[in-house]
Amino acid sequence: MRIYDIILKKRNGGTLTKDEIAAFIDGYVDGTIPDYQASALCMAIFFRGMTDEETAALTDCMARSGDMIDLSRFGDLTVDKHSTGGVGDKTTLIVAPIVASLGGKVAKMSGRGLGHTGGTVDKLASIPGMRVTMAREAFLRQVEEIGVAVIGQSGNLTPADKKLYALRDVTATVDSIPLITSSVMSKKIAAGSKSIVLDVKAGSGAFMKTADDARILARNMVAIGKACGRKMSALITDMNRPLGTAVGNTLEVIEAVKVLRGASKGDLYDVCVALATEMTMLFADLPHEKAEARVVSAIESGDAFRKMQAWVTAQGGDAAWLETAKYGDGAALAVPVVSPADGYITCMDTEEIGTAAVILGAGRSKKEDEIDDSAGILVCKKTGDAVKKGEILATLYTNDAAAVAPAEKRYLDALTVGSAAPEATDLIFDIIR
Ligand code: URA
Repeated sequence: MRIYDIILKKRNGGTLTKDEIAAFIDGYVDGTIPDYQASALCMAIFFRGMTDEETAALTDCMARSGDMIDLSRFGDLTVDKHSTGGVGDKTTLIVAPIVASLGGKVAKMSGRGLGHTGGTVDKLASIPGMRVTMAREAFLRQVEEIGVAVIGQSGNLTPADKKLYALRDVTATVDSIPLITSSVMSKKIAAGSKSIVLDVKAGSGAFMKTADDARILARNMVAIGKACGRKMSALITDMNRPLGTAVGNTLEVIEAVKVLRGASKGDLYDVCVALATEMTMLFADLPHEKAEARVVSAIESGDAFRKMQAWVTAQGGDAAWLETAKYGDGAALAVPVVSPADGYITCMDTEEIGTAAVILGAGRSKKEDEIDDSAGILVCKKTGDAVKKGEILATLYTNDAAAVAPAEKRYLDALTVGSAAPEATDLIFDIIR
């Protein structure tokens, strides 16, 4: 079977067989198919799409491309959560300790930043001392003892996704429903949790720009998960503005701590409570109201934050730093972006805001780029807020003076300021169970 013929077939709108998909994944993982042919096939899939059967076959081949983790020792208590990626999305840092404090077992493998979106592993790695790699047995022991361990996709778990994810990131082939479905669900299935909650983002900062596309993606992923014997639920949440106020690694950890300590309420708190509630409903088999009450009480009692401290300590991180770190630490420059006019913010191009953060150093433009943990943006005004000319809209943090002007321009260009307040919109568009 020649990879050239497989690319040509998909480019011309054909339907790939299971064997053709397996030949692509096997050849790409063992290195006989080079990046340029894999990226050509991804681009063909981007434009031509895939049938449900092709997507299921791709997911299965990717999940089996490496090890499959066996979490059966934890019975039905294992629960995972995955976001399709957004700007300011630090929900894992918040929901993982909440759910672990309620008895769930969170054995989680997370990704690095992709495109304009940040990655949980990069955020965790910004905590001084925090290890994001761990041997399999140590990882499972930590889940047993503390209830939560989060590391990067490690060892030989879904090597196909590891390679494809990095390739798609730099070839403009991220925002494709079959490629996202297979990427997310192959990792989730190989990672072994019985229950899986998906946070499918929709809007200008998400890979899915509309709630309708996000719904299709969510339904695809829920169906594939159920077919593999998992308990599934998916929330479709708004990404037409950054989630919370912090964008960038250290900044986001600090904001996550504020939410866990009950010191910050708002959109981020609401999405985290909704996600942790779904996770608790699944792993503890509870109705919505009871699960939500437990989640809220885990935050208010301090149990969830204590769990975060125990988790960070177990992975070598400095738990005391969580309480002392301040916005702007480590960044030589803190530059306010001010409003050019009086009015209301009527719209935020959230992808552009994510890109402004990448320019400041918070993400990677190329696979091998280094991240500046302290770089990012603290957003002060969001869609719907009234602003006065000269008022601070956001603060940019960086150690790269040359990045300030382009990031500031990008940020301002991402905002629309109008004379009337826009209509309020939902934060959670839908739940698919
Ligand atoms: N998150 C993933 O894990 N994969 C994608 O393709 C997009 C978001």
